[in-house]
Amino acid sequence: MARYSFSRAESAVSKLETNGEGVDYKQIVEEALVEATNAQSWVSVAASEALKAGGKRIRPILALLTCEAISGDYRPAIPVALAYELAHSASLIQDDIIAESQVRHSAPTAHAKYGITRAILISDMLIFEIFSQIARYKDTKVSKGRLAELLEYMSRAAKEAAEGEFLEASLKERGSMTEADYVKVAGLKTGALFAAASASGAVVAGGDRKLVEDMREYGLDLGIAFQIQDDILDFTGQSKTTGKPIFKDMQNNACNIVLVHALAAGDVYKRNTISSMLYRKWFGISDAKKLLVTLTELGSLENATVLAEKYATRCRQLLAPLKPTPARQKLEKLTRLVGSRSE
Ligand code: IPE
Ligand code: MG
Repeated sequence: MARYSFSRAESAVSKLETNGEGVDYKQIVEEALVEATNAQSWVSVAASEALKAGGKRIRPILALLTCEAISGDYRPAIPVALAYELAHSASLIQDDIIAESQVRHSAPTAHAKYGITRAILISDMLIFEIFSQIARYKDTKVSKGRLAELLEYMSRAAKEAAEGEFLEASLKERGSMTEADYVKVAGLKTGALFAAASASGAVVAGGDRKLVEDMREYGLDLGIAFQIQDDILDFTGQSKTTGKPIFKDMQNNACNIVLVHALAAGDVYKRNTISSMLYRKWFGISDAKKLLVTLTELGSLENATVLAEKYATRCRQLLAPLKPTPARQKLEKLTRLVGSRSE
């Protein structure tokens, strides 16, 4: 028989339900995170601090919603939802080391606060907690075969995310990037975790092979659309809402679709304008304006918006096999939000 002892998360939900406010999935994730992190050592205190530092919790919410859309209940997905937030959180720590980012969620990043040595150990701690979360399916109605599938999805996604970062570093060294290269990198570094989170929600829901695959593809396309929007926000976002500085991708010459387009579409003069601003640590108002005007003139922001919409449309098509339930509506809403988010 199923035995899910996620009591605090459940009581929070029932409170919301009786308030007539509907289920607050982000709140469920926050509560489950508090319950799951029992910090015993100095490093685990730092790891749980990193995990609870904030964020939109999109990957875990994705797992909860796909599970509910298929089975009518989000609760079986709680461990796997946490597993993907752990993987994400560890990857952010590593990403911030790689990009030398000092601020995230409007606070110092792990390496800025604790130094690189400790930041690496904190990210290890988060990664190995993933196994404990997946092990919570022992003694539930999730079969051995399905449990193995969950492990396979996690393993593959984490390897792909690393491969994406690796490919991005190689392409940067080569010095040129096409839109196809970009989509490949985005699908690996961001799409892989989104894909595996939604597929895993479908797995614990008992979805058939076709449905699990549809949900995997849905997550992949959503992740690509999400990454494109992230790139747009790097130029147009407000640091107050994104929690990180603007033009960060210019500073690192990161794989950003707006830049990929601008550097391919611009004439020599415009290309030079942009190139001269790469790796710059600080932007005055007039340079910031000049850059945004150039990107707008080249249609690079518009191109990115259209590309994100293409992936969002594919997402909506992939949701078609799901029964019309509130959870499916929430997945549709999440798809819309990804394209219009400001944080
Ligand atoms: C940030 O992901 C890294 C990318 C894949 C762009 P999120 O935007 O989901 O990070 P949170 O919400 O701060 O956790
Ligand atoms: Mg970015």
